Parts: sequence; structure tokens; C-alpha cells
Amino acid sequence: MFRTNTCGELRIEHISNQVTLAGWVQRVRKLGALTFVDLRDRFGITQLAFNTESNPELTERANKLSREFVIQAKGNVAERSSKNTNIPTGEIEILVDEFSILNEAELPPFMIENDTDGSEELRLKYRYLDIRRPKLKDILLTRARIVKSVRAYLDAKDFCEIETPTFIKSTPEGARDFLVPSRLVQGSFYALPQSPQILKQLLMVAGMDKYYQVVKCFRDEDFRGDRQPEFTQIDCEMSFVHQEDILNNFEGMIQHVFKQNLNYELGEIPRLTYHTAMKLYGSDKPDLRFDCKIVELNDLLPASEFGVFNNTISSGGLVAGINAKGCAAFSRKQLDELTEFVKVAHRGLGGLVNIRFNEDGSVKSSIDKFFTEAQLREFGNAFGAEKGDLILIAADKISKVRKSLGDLRLHLAKQNNWIDESKWSVLWIVDFPLFELDEETGETIFVHHPFCSPNPEDMQYFDSEPLKVRAQQYDMVMNGNEICSGSIRITNRDLQKRVFQKLGMSEAEQQSRFGFMLDAYKYGAPPHGGCAFGLDRMVMLMTGGETIRDVIAFPKTSGGRDLMMDAPTTVDEKQLKELGISTISK
Ligand code: AMO
Repeated sequence: MFRTNTCGELRIEHISNQVTLAGWVQRVRKLGALTFVDLRDRFGITQLAFNTESNPELTERANKLSREFVIQAKGNVAERSSKNTNIPTGEIEILVDEFSILNEAELPPFMIENDTDGSEELRLKYRYLDIRRPKLKDILLTRARIVKSVRAYLDAKDFCEIETPTFIKSTPEGARDFLVPSRLVQGSFYALPQSPQILKQLLMVAGMDKYYQVVKCFRDEDFRGDRQPEFTQIDCEMSFVHQEDILNNFEGMIQHVFKQNLNYELGEIPRLTYHTAMKLYGSDKPDLRFDCKIVELNDLLPASEFGVFNNTISSGGLVAGINAKGCAAFSRKQLDELTEFVKVAHRGLGGLVNIRFNEDGSVKSSIDKFFTEAQLREFGNAFGAEKGDLILIAADKISKVRKSLGDLRLHLAKQNNWIDESKWSVLWIVDFPLFELDEETGETIFVHHPFCSPNPEDMQYFDSEPLKVRAQQYDMVMNGNEICSGSIRITNRDLQKRVFQKLGMSEAEQQSRFGFMLDAYKYGAPPHGGCAFGLDRMVMLMTGGETIRDVIAFPKTSGGRDLMMDAPTTVDEKQLKELGISTISK
């Protein structure tokens, strides 16, 4: 036997056992005649003890061990004289009577400890060393346990795990495709799946009824902390269901996953319509661990000479604000910083109006000139303002005001520690619109993907006012992050074609891109729907990580690079030629 036990296993009841352990040297300490070596493996750390007096030669060799050497040691389990209550094996040590070096190691470029001195870049380059740190190792173990509990739940509900191919034709999810050139059909490309969306729908046509897959998806899009170009979904689809059945099933799944992994009762998952979420929180993924709702003032504004409000109202815009609780004493600098926050290009507000309800009972505002104190107090009432509160008001186009106040709400919450980190905010957002306008091109585009079924109640608007049509689409939001998205699918061929048409797709384009799917719908498609959870995001939140890089074994940097393997890289001309790709512009 290579080893009889792991380094995390031995306890006081194992005293006197003859054991063999193997692992990495975490640390060597010399204390007079004694030498202690902390031996580490995935399961924990065990102290090895050597004594010059009883075995000088062996102790001499142990003294020469360095960090990260891989060794195998044999000895007897003994009770420690000075116990370490911080680790499970801290009551025992191994009195070593024999050890061998399995592999030597150079000094690692950073400390293999939770509190490491390595920069993220360095740790990504030596990711295999980074994973030796307990923190990262434990996240990967938790990730595996989460996946296991997902599988257990879905298996018990008769879902069948089916693999779908990676070299396919484009399945659109709104990002760019990664393309793979074909050598055999030169000039042609496979697309890597942005998701298995179409394939899982075809599995429903195939009669598989309930499918899931823990699957890699590939999207060539701009990076953020919660995005990677390849990431993992828990992808699911069900036949003969209504939206309600799907919501209930996956509410059950997330409750199960929380109970199994965090021993936390999530309770019922509340639902909010997209419209309400946008109106109250300025976001379709609101964090409800704190309150601070947006209050709309259009109907409450008294007549005034204040042009900004008047012009906004007359041009169909929105005047609305939030109550920054306890922030009345903000300095001019702090208020300026908030104004700059809403002015940046992607928010684009002209500024912020403030009303301060001071602790001494006075009211001060940047619009004192236009409104009486009584009127300002009336505004305050709309926000439930008390002494010490700061009201921040924006006036502009509806979407700009909502987005800016939504972002501001979150910014203030982080800045002022309004978020109770021990709480979970998990909710469903339902009734998303089917289409939206692309702000840059003005074209009608899909909100989720082109296979979402419109809400039958809204079909009357499909041709005349398509932006009014709600989809049977839902997202699950966790602490302000979208962790799951899904919908009831279109299963009527004609309706699918009408949606493609609305998205500006010609008949020829429909045929070339999705002909195989439209064909399948000729052969009896069952009503179906499903969803996909972003596993990385879910694990990041459940392990308290800051970015999804923290929960992926070998992630890419924000610039899309794998620093460890040094990918992407150039390839040989010969390889390119074989693929029929002759020139590459550098
Ligand atoms: P969607 O595109 O919303 O839906 O993706 C589902 C979930 O996957 C996660 N996610 C990501 N995670 C990390 N990096 C990314 N680049 C990334 N993009 C998405 C999110 C998201 O909620 N086929 C549909 C699902 C369906 O309709 O059944 C889909 O892929 O957590």
C-alpha cells in the first residue's frame, strides 16, 4: 500500500497504529533535538516528528527537506505533548522511523498558504501550485459537492443526463461564436455551443422528456468578473410542462442544494415581474438584501419653475429618486462623487438633485430656490425620509433614470455597508419582454434567445407593438447576480418563423441557420421549456468568492488568456495550410 491513511485522517483513537502517509512538505521546524515536518495532502496536515537522540541519521535527513518536497513516511501514531486545536489532526503526530523522498521541488514562486504573497497573475501562471492552497482546493471540493447534489436532485426527478456535441452549428445566445475550422471541409467552420439550447429542444422532440447536462458553454464576449469565455451550465429541459412547473421544480433544486451544501433553509423563492423589478430597483437582477426602493415622483411634483423637472415630464421622461438612509451628513466631495458616478457615459445622467434631512431637523437641498421647505418635506414623505436621510433625485429618459438609480442604490449599499452578508436574496424575475430595441442599431432584438415563447395573452400586440409582448421567460437572481435563465419554448413552426421574421431574418437565412430545427417541428414537437443555471456564478456566491475565476480550476484572465499554458498562441504555417487558412494578418 502506498499509504495507509491520508494526512487529514488520524486522531487520538489511532494512537500506536503503524501508518504510512504521503504528501507535500508544508514546513520544517527545528526545536533543539526535535524536528517537526508538517505533511500536507488534499485531506489535511499531519505532523511528522523526528528526534536526533533516538534517530540522528533520519533526523539529519529530515532537516534537509524543503517546502513542497513530495515524501512518503512510515511511523507510529503518538499523542502530542503540545496539541494544536486548530486542526483536526492536532492531537497526534507520527514518530517517523523511515521516510523516502518521492520527488524534490524547487522553491515555489509564492507561499502555498491561504494568506499567500503571490499576485493573481503569478498564481494563474502556476495554477497547479495555487490549487495546493487550502482555500482554492476547498472551493473545488465544494464545487464538486454542489454538482453532486444537483445531480442527486435531478436524477431523483427522472431527469436523464445526456451529452450533446461541442462541434456544432451556431446556437445564438447573443454573444459571438468561437469558431473551429474544418480540415475536411475547407472554408467551413464548426461553432462551439454558446449553450446546448437547440440540441436540448431537439431532445424533447426526440421524446427524452426530462434532460440535464453539466456542460461547458463558449461565448466570445467582453469579460467581466462574472463572465468567462468558457463556463459551465447546469442545463435542463422538460416536456409537457407549464412555466409554473419549471419554476417549482428548480425552486426545489436550489433549496435542496442550499440545504445539502450550506445547511441553509432558503424557504419559498419570491417572484417579481420584470416590470416591477425595473421600476422599484432599476435592474432585472436586484439585490434585495437591503431595501432602498426607487420612488417615482412624476405624479407628486408640484408646479415649479425648475426647468429640469418640467422638461423631463413634458418630454415623457421620469423624475425619481432613492433615499440614502443616514447619509445626510455627506460632504460636498462625497456628493460630487455620487454625481460623477451617475454621469459616466454608460449611465449618462446630467446630475443629481439632493435633499438633506439633517439631524438638527433642518432641510437643505440643491433645489431650495425652486421649492418651499414644505414641498421638500412632502418629497421626503414620499421616501419615508427621517432625520439623517439624504434623498437623491434624477430626471431624464425613463430607462436612464432607472438604470442610474439602480446602480447608485447598489453603489451606496456597498459603500455604506448596508448589505447583511449573512442573508441570501434569491428570487425569480418573471414576465420578461420578448423583444427589445438595440440601442446602437435601433433594430428589434431578442431579450433571451429566439426560441422563447411569447405570452399567449400578448399575441394581440405581436405585429402592432412587439415591444409590449411579454415572453414566458424567467431568471433566478441570487444576491444581485443572474444565476439562471429559462423559458417556455415556441413549439409551433409558424410562430417560430414569425419570431425569426420579426428579428429581421429572411426566409433564406432562417433556412440556412435553423432549417433543421424548423424541419424537426414538422414531426410533432411536445410543449416544453427549461432553464440553465450558471454553475460558476452559483458556486462563486455559495463560497463567498469575488469573481468566477476563484471557482474555476484553470480560468482565463480578463484579457482571455490562459497564463499557465500560454494560450492562445500562434500556430505553425503548416497547420494553417492543412486547414486551408493561408494568411493571418498580424
Ligand atoms: P443564458 O444565456 O442566460 O441562458 O445563460 C444561463 C446562465 O449561464 C450563466 N452565464 C455565464 N456564466 C459565466 N460566464 C458567462 N460568459 C456566462 N454567460 C451566461 C448565467 C446565466 O444565467 N440556453 C439558455 C438557457 C435556457 O433558456 O434554458 C441560456 O444559455 O448565470
